Amino acid sequence: MRKLYLIGIGAGNPEYITVQAIKALNSVDVFFLMDKGEAKRDLLKLRKEICERYIENRSYRMVEAADPVRDPAIADYTARVEEWHRQRSLIYEEMIARELKEGQCGAFLVWGDPSLYDSTLRIIDQIKAREKLCFEIEVIPGITSMQALTARHKISLNGIGESIAMTTGRQLSSDMSATAERTIVMLDGQCSFNNLLDEDLDIYWGAYLGMDEEILLSGKLSEIASRIAEVRSEQRQKNGWIMDTYLIARSSPLR
Ligand SMILES: C[S@@+](CC[C@H](N)C(=O)[O-])C[C@H]1O[C@@H](n2cnc3c(N)ncnc32)[C@H](O)[C@@H]1O
Repeated sequence: MRKLYLIGIGAGNPEYITVQAIKALNSVDVFFLMDKGEAKRDLLKLRKEICERYIENRSYRMVEAADPVRDPAIADYTARVEEWHRQRSLIYEEMIARELKEGQCGAFLVWGDPSLYDSTLRIIDQIKAREKLCFEIEVIPGITSMQALTARHKISLNGIGESIAMTTGRQLSSDMSATAERTIVMLDGQCSFNNLLDEDLDIYWGAYLGMDEEILLSGKLSEIASRIAEVRSEQRQKNGWIMDTYLIARSSPLR
C-alpha cells in the first residue's frame, strides 16, 4: 500500500521541526510541493532547506505542480473555495497516482500545522472518498504561527480560565463584545484591526515569525494600528509578500 504523510513543518523557522517530523521526513520517497502566491519562492526554499538539513538519505525526489487559481466568476466565497479544492484534489490525485509506486511513501510538507487554516487534509479526504487510489495517511503535527506569535511576545494565549477565539481578518467582527477576551487573527490582508479602534484593546502583532525578517509590534491598538499598517505595507513591498498574525486582548497587561 502507498503511504502519504502530511507533515507539519512549523511556521517559518527550520528549527520548529519536531523529532517526529524528522523521522517521517527520512522515510519519504517523494515530496509533493504545491506552493502558491507571491510567497512561493521563499516558502519553497524553506521546504527544500528542511529536506537538505534533516534528511540523511538523499534518494528522495521532489515533484512540483502548478496550483490552480480560484475562479473569480464564482461569487460566493465558500463555493469558490470548494471548487478550488476540488480542482486541487484532482491534481493531487493524478500526481500521487503518477509519481508514487505501490509500497512507496509520499509527503506534503504543510506550513505550521495541518489542522489550522490549511486545506491539505480536506483535499486528501476528497481523494480518499473517490476511492480511485488506495493509500494510508499519517498526520504529523507542527508548530503553528499562533504558537510562534505567543512565544516571541512571551505571552500566554489565554487568561486564567478564559476561553480564546481564533478567526480570520475576513470574519473579525467590528464588535469584540460577542467574542472571547483574547482573539487570534490570521489571514488578514486588509488590516481588519482598524475596525476595532474605538475599543480599549491591546494588540500583539508578528510578521515573518521565526524567519530572519521577523518583526514584532505590541501596544494599545488605537495607538499602534497605523504603525502596524505602515510597517505591513513597507515590508510587503520590500519582500514581495507578507504573512502576519496577531492577538487582540481586552485585559492589560496579559497574565
Ligand atoms: C493558510 S494559513 C496557514 C496557517 C498554518 N497552518 C499554521 O499552522 O500557522 C496562513 C496564515 O498563517 C499565518 N502565518 C503563517 N506563518 C506565519 C508566520 N511565519 N508569521 C506570521 N504569520 C504566519 C498568517 O496569518 C497567514 O496568513
